[in-house]
Amino acid sequence: MSNLAIEAKNVRKRFGAHDVLQGVDLAVPEGSIYALLGPNGAGKTTLIHILSTLVEPDEGMVRICGHELAAASMVKRSISLTGQFAAVDEVLTARENLTMAGRLCGLTRAEARARAEELLARFDLESAADKRVRTYSGGMRRRLDLAISLVTPRPVLFLDEPTTGLDTMSRRTLWDLIRSLKRQGVTVFLTTQYLEEADQLADTIAVLDGGRIVATGTASELKTRLGDEVLELRDGRGSLIRTLSTDGSLQDIRQQLNELAASVPPDTRIAIRKPSLDDVFVALTAQEKERRSS
Ligand SMILES: Nc1ncnc2c1ncn2[C@@H]1O[C@H](COP(=O)(O)OP(=O)(O)O)[C@@H](O)[C@H]1O
Ligand SMILES: [Mg+2]
Repeated sequence: MSNLAIEAKNVRKRFGAHDVLQGVDLAVPEGSIYALLGPNGAGKTTLIHILSTLVEPDEGMVRICGHELAAASMVKRSISLTGQFAAVDEVLTARENLTMAGRLCGLTRAEARARAEELLARFDLESAADKRVRTYSGGMRRRLDLAISLVTPRPVLFLDEPTTGLDTMSRRTLWDLIRSLKRQGVTVFLTTQYLEEADQLADTIAVLDGGRIVATGTASELKTRLGDEVLELRDGRGSLIRTLSTDGSLQDIRQQLNELAASVPPDTRIAIRKPSLDDVFVALTAQEKERRSS
């Protein structure tokens, strides 16, 4: 068994009457990419803040590289964090931001400058290095954010919604950078609302809903929980009416369509496809709602 970079047991956090995290367990192997997938408000940022010592849990155990949260200085030396909202100084240039971050981390002036150069090159920010960050595009800012969190390399990197709001090109560039960190042995824990992102990047995906992890697995494991095939029903104008999961056998498909017959319009069209992570997510969160209301 590989060592765990992040381990959490029964983590709970409540804000007033709002039970945000209701007993979260995590086991993230060293050197892997772990995606925490959940809708807006699910508690992703809260969990990242707990794992990175910024917020105290009400209950539960967390270990980062073997150190419990109580050993905060050891934990802090093991992690870097790129928050959901950019922590760059808009008035400074990228080079100045990076050099300042290096100085704050205890590098000498010369070391900080050298590290800034290296990161500017690696994150393709050289041509804009002396422009004020205020003038940057969203993708450039996110790259700078990530670069700043890597000024002093740490074994565990937390990324809170690294690509939210970015265009496809910038998103892909960031994915490549995240994969290259993994190749260097960094453990990456990221949160995302995008199924595609989790599918593309993660060795393990955990779905957070209703304050709990409702499913964990590889993308393909999660997909197989949903049956082999999905029937997609669309009306005459192409709008999705509903999806059904099936084992793909004629018998099952016939039975499901017979049960439906009266409730869908006669011009309904049917397509059959493999399940996507979106289907998994919809199915899992629906199960969770049923469980809670029963
Ligand atoms: N400091 C806080 N005080 C009160 N409520 C909070 C605080 N931080 C987060 N929340 C609430 O906790 C829930 C989860 O928030 P958050 O962790 O930011 O979710 P996510 O990152 O998944 O969108 C939200 O309903 C949010 O309003
Ligand atoms: Mg958040």
